[in-house]
Amino acid sequence: MTGIEDLPVRDELRGKTPYGAPQLDVPVRLNTNENPYPLPEELVRRIAERVTDAARTLNRYPDRDAVELRSALAAYLSRTTGYEVSGAQVWAANGSNEVIQQLLQTFGGPGRTAVGFEPSYSMHSLISRGTGTGWLSGPRREDFTIDTEAAVRAIAEHRPEIVFVCSPNNPTGTAVERDTVLALYEAAQAAGPSMVIVDEAYGEFSHRPSLLPLIEGRPNLVVSRTMSKAFGAAGLRLGYLAADPAVVDAVQLVRLPYHLSAVTQATALAALEHTDTLLGYVERLKEERDRLVRELSALGLEVTESDANFVQFGRFDDAQATWRALLEHGVLVRDNGVPGRLRVSAGTPEENDAFLDAVRAVTKETPR
Ligand SMILES: Cc1ncc(COP(=O)(O)O)c(C=O)c1O
Repeated sequence: MTGIEDLPVRDELRGKTPYGAPQLDVPVRLNTNENPYPLPEELVRRIAERVTDAARTLNRYPDRDAVELRSALAAYLSRTTGYEVSGAQVWAANGSNEVIQQLLQTFGGPGRTAVGFEPSYSMHSLISRGTGTGWLSGPRREDFTIDTEAAVRAIAEHRPEIVFVCSPNNPTGTAVERDTVLALYEAAQAAGPSMVIVDEAYGEFSHRPSLLPLIEGRPNLVVSRTMSKAFGAAGLRLGYLAADPAVVDAVQLVRLPYHLSAVTQATALAALEHTDTLLGYVERLKEERDRLVRELSALGLEVTESDANFVQFGRFDDAQATWRALLEHGVLVRDNGVPGRLRVSAGTPEENDAFLDAVRAVTKETPR
């Protein structure tokens, strides 16, 4: 039988494993930072209407530039952040992973380097590798915040073409201070000029304002967002970025023609019509996230302050063993490989109760 190792795959992909959390069929799944609330019925009906309309012209290619969707996303950003952006400053793709891939194809590539501050979202390094971009792992402090001075030094020394800033950071939940982003941007321009990509996939869950206004007067700063989390639409696959219009022009050099299907555009537009209802779920999830932080701390666990819809907790002598024990209690969380820590996504109040019960049982069974 032929295996991958027998194929002439690129050297940098040899021996690697594909990204992906286990998709196990257990009662309580809190491992992929999904929104636990299904879309409201009213929105489901609206999607059906919009998709039916789109189906009538599926013999034609979709709007290649997704103009209507990009202006609706711009209106959403302007309304929720208070910073006015236009459709020309917004670009959309199939999930923010594709947005990041397009940015790396445009600004990275062979002979170029990207830096991220780890632990962070592992797809930043994986997509870098997939696009032939070198990867440099910058450190974080013990409390998982970015050490601004050390980060500035690393940028000055290594002169990366791309700097990733994930805020709130996955898997730790840590928000990045505005001043840190500004310092990293200045360092990146002095060393580069280089692009700074602020990944705000969890921006709507943060206690702090969006970093979006920082794009003003900073053409090399990009903010990426997604409808997978706050909009409860992970299955839709819709991510987007906001930046200087020149960045939008640049990514068009690498995007596949008609990359965003008419069905995707229609569905995303329907979801944007229901922004207020969906943001109501975000408020509930923020309360649940804060409750998880409180209750896990009350159990004597070490909990990382979170601005996202998930919480990192520990410490465990053997995080893998605790992960397995929670699974035996019917609860799936995520082991992101951060020593001694696990990550739980905020679910419905009932799911979070089940998770907390499981933690109580497991920590009693195997004292840390
Ligand atoms: C920090 C971060 N960025 C981007 C993504 C990708 O999201 P999507 O491709 O679903 O938009 C995720 C998904 O978990 C994430 O955690």
